[in-house]
Amino acid sequence: MDEIQLTPLARELGLRLVPAHVGVIMDGNGRWAQKRGMPRMMGHRAGVETLRDVIRFSSDVGIQVLSLYAFSTENWKRPADEVGGLMRLLVEFLYKEIDELDANGVRIRFMGDIDALPAPQHKAVEYGLEKTKDNTGLIVNIALNYGARAEIARAARELAAAAVRGELDAAAITEQSVTDALYTAGLPDVDLVIRTSGEMRLSNFMLYQCSYAEFYFPEVLWPDFSKEEYAKVLLQFQQRDRRYGGVK
Ligand code: IPE
Ligand code: IPE
Ligand code: MG
Repeated sequence: MDEIQLTPLARELGLRLVPAHVGVIMDGNGRWAQKRGMPRMMGHRAGVETLRDVIRFSSDVGIQVLSLYAFSTENWKRPADEVGGLMRLLVEFLYKEIDELDANGVRIRFMGDIDALPAPQHKAVEYGLEKTKDNTGLIVNIALNYGARAEIARAARELAAAAVRGELDAAAITEQSVTDALYTAGLPDVDLVIRTSGEMRLSNFMLYQCSYAEFYFPEVLWPDFSKEEYAKVLLQFQQRDRRYGGVK
């Protein structure tokens, strides 16, 4: 939470505090396209336009980390042409948008099983990481081939292996040790989760990091999610009484 240094846009919107870490489950692209009698891929393409605006807005309003659910470990179940289309769109996005993101000081991170991705996607990911690695602005953390349960299992494997090597006392494993073994090591906990399209579930998104997050479920489909809608969510977020189990 950054309560002191507000950006000009944050002030203009009447914000007193801005969440440090926002997670976004960009849902509803397929329905958006189907409603218009278009192929689902057109919805994903329209979703990229929203994504560009949301990244820009997040940066302008002073959010530190924006985690974006781009492709889940379960999304491989979709028809092969949709999976292929999404994979191509990812590569296209990274090569096309990176210069502007870079110019705005954005630093890209990824979470998920990136090594299991096909070579072109893997290369595009490396390109994005390399190109933005020295930037100090908004961190855009892209969940790609990501599942929270897989992430936690991976952390458990890492900690167990360290214990077997004698580098770690198993009895001394703390919540912080687990936090540090997740993909999000070094990032603040998620303060706010936004899932568009009216679905009210996490679908395996950042289970550990969302322990005390606030949730918003706007009805709009992702391609229709606007800056105005985002501003509304942020204004409502600051009214929430976050007690963390205590009393106020
Ligand atoms: C979210 O939109 C984007 C990804 C999962 C990549 P969907 O494709 O899930 O859209 P709906 O939920 O079918 O409308
Ligand atoms: C979650 O949306 C994954 C992404 C937005 C990338 P889904 O559309 O895949 O989730 P379910 O199947 O409705 O739970
Ligand atoms: Mg969906």
